[in-house]
Amino acid sequence: MAKRLPTAGKEVAVLGSGHLHDVDLKGLLARFDRVVLVDAVHPLEVRLRARLSSGRIVCLAADVSGIGAAQGLPDAIDTTGPAFERIRRADCVVSVNLMSQLVVVPVRRWAGLGLPDEAIIRAARSVLEAHLALLRSCRKALLISDAAHRFDGGAWEDLLLGTALPPPDEEWTWTLAPRGEEADGRIEERRVVGCVLS
Ligand SMILES: C[S@@+](CC[C@H](N)C(=O)[O-])C[C@H]1O[C@@H](n2cnc3c(N)ncnc32)[C@H](O)[C@@H]1O
Repeated sequence: MAKRLPTAGKEVAVLGSGHLHDVDLKGLLARFDRVVLVDAVHPLEVRLRARLSSGRIVCLAADVSGIGAAQGLPDAIDTTGPAFERIRRADCVVSVNLMSQLVVVPVRRWAGLGLPDEAIIRAARSVLEAHLALLRSCRKALLISDAAHRFDGGAWEDLLLGTALPPPDEEWTWTLAPRGEEADGRIEERRVVGCVLS
């Protein structure tokens, strides 16, 4: 997807930056003056790298699900506030293997509260749709996300709860668990899509 990025700009925001395993930080620094890494939790080595970057790498700690502090189902998904403003101000925003993860912890929490499945799925879908809407509201945005998975070559199962994505500009299969890696011996593959959203 790197070839779809602008060749130059002031600021790029990377959502779900994590350990930077799937992020070409060097390539981004070659194109942009500043790289803003956005994640709920920044690993120590990434924070150290930012500290030594003379301001060219910034770690922004933020929950970008839009759920806010509510423990139960949110009344609404809110993608306003300082972190979202900074994201929207960037010349380019890249969401990297974050989208499917946005709902994992909340769904587990809601299920633990004994809430009805349909209400949980509705709330999770609204989080996923709000993420797409956020990216679409940015000047230029790229989405890279796992969209489906399968075990041992079986049928693909949707990971995005039926959320409609635009036709991917690129897609590939990622073997998350090669044979022998998982305790149950199953091979897990993920279908990853790359879409230019705005
Ligand atoms: C699969 S990892 C992404 C890997 C990462 N792109 C990399 O290159 O290493 C998902 C990331 O999303 C972050 N994340 C999950 N939910 C989040 C949320 N609500 N807000 C911000 N970050 C979140 C996790 O902390 C994790 O770093």
